[in-house]
Amino acid sequence: MDRAHRDTILVEDAEILSHEPHAGEQYVMRVRAPGCARRARPGQFAHLTVDPQRPMRRPISIMRASAADGWVDFLYKAVGDGTRLLAARRRGEQISVLGPIGVAFEIRERRPLLIGGGVGMPPMIFIAESLRYSDSKPFVVLGSEVPFPFTARPSQFPLPGLPDGVIAAMPLLEDWKIPSRLASLQGYAGCHQGYVTDLARYWLDGLSDRERAEVGVYACGPHAMLGAVVNLAREYDLPVQVSLEEFMACAVGGCAGCVVEVSTPGGPAMKRVCVDGPVFDGYTVF
Ligand SMILES: Cc1cc2nc3c(=O)[nH]c(=O)nc-3n(C[C@H](O)[C@H](O)[C@H](O)COP(=O)(O)OP(=O)(O)OC[C@H]3O[C@@H](n4cnc5c(N)ncnc54)[C@H](O)[C@@H]3O)c2cc1C
Ligand code: FES
Repeated sequence: MDRAHRDTILVEDAEILSHEPHAGEQYVMRVRAPGCARRARPGQFAHLTVDPQRPMRRPISIMRASAADGWVDFLYKAVGDGTRLLAARRRGEQISVLGPIGVAFEIRERRPLLIGGGVGMPPMIFIAESLRYSDSKPFVVLGSEVPFPFTARPSQFPLPGLPDGVIAAMPLLEDWKIPSRLASLQGYAGCHQGYVTDLARYWLDGLSDRERAEVGVYACGPHAMLGAVVNLAREYDLPVQVSLEEFMACAVGGCAGCVVEVSTPGGPAMKRVCVDGPVFDGYTVF
C-alpha cells in the first residue's frame, strides 16, 4: 500500500442496510462501515467487492457518511458486469469496503460552485453536506441524461441570473438550505434544457464582481464535462478542482494501472488517480 496512505484506508465487512433502485439502472446503497464513515471526506471513494465470487473490486465515490451512526451511502449506475452484480446484492448481505481512499476536495473559497454530472453527483452532495453548518454559500448544479435518482421539487431559493422556469432542485439540498438547479437535454420539468455549464454561467453572470471573486469551482462527471468546466473556470479566472475516473485494479497506489498525465512546474508527470487523486487541480489535467 502507498506509504502516504498507510493506516488511513480500512477494510471492513459492511452490512447492506438499504439498497434502493432508481430509474436508469441507478442505485443508492447504504452500508454499515463505521471506520470508513468516521474518516471519509468529500471526493474520496471506496473500493467495493461486488460479489463473493469476484475478487476485482469496483471504485465508487462516497456520497454521504455518518460518523455518528456508522453508515456510508453510495450512488452508482449499473453499466457493466461488476456493477450489475452489485445491484443484485440485497439488504442484510455483506460486502467488503476498502476505504476511504484518495485525495479529497479542499474547499477554500466562500462561494463554492459544485457541478456534478451523472454518477459524478455523489461527491458534490458530500461537499454540500459538509458545508451545511458553515458560513460558505455553495450553489450546486446537477446534470443527468437519465431520470434523476430523486424527485425534484421547485426551489425555495430564487437566484439572480437564472432563466424563468428553471426551478427544479434536489430535495435533500433544499432541506439543507443549499440552493441547487438541474440540467438535462431530456426535457424534464423545471430543468434547464442544456448543459450544467450553461447553468453555472447564468449563476456566475448573476453575481456581482465582488461575489464572483469569491467563487471556486468543484466538479465530478464525464471527462468531456470536466473539460468544459475547466474552460469555464479559465474564462472567469476561477480556481477549479476536478475528480477524475480511471479504471482501477488495486486502488491503493500499488499497480500504476490508473495513471494520468498532469502538468507540474517541473513538466509533465504521471500521477495515480487512486491515491494522488482522484481530485486534481483542473488546470493541471485539462
Ligand atoms: C474514483 C472513482 C469513483 C467512481 N465513483 C462512481 C460513483 O460514485 N458511481 C458510479 O456509478 N460509478 C462510479 N465510478 C465508475 C465505476 O467504478 C465504474 O462504472 C465501474 O467500475 C464499472 O464496472 P463494471 O464492471 O460494472 O463495468 P465494466 O464492464 O468494467 O464497464 C462497463 C462500462 O463502463 C465503462 N467504465 C468502467 N469503469 C470505468 C471507469 N473507471 N471510468 C470510466 N468508465 C468506466 C467502460 O468503458 C464500459 O463502457 C467511479 C470510478 C472511479 C475511478
Ligand atoms: S489502481 Fe493501482 S495504482 Fe491506482
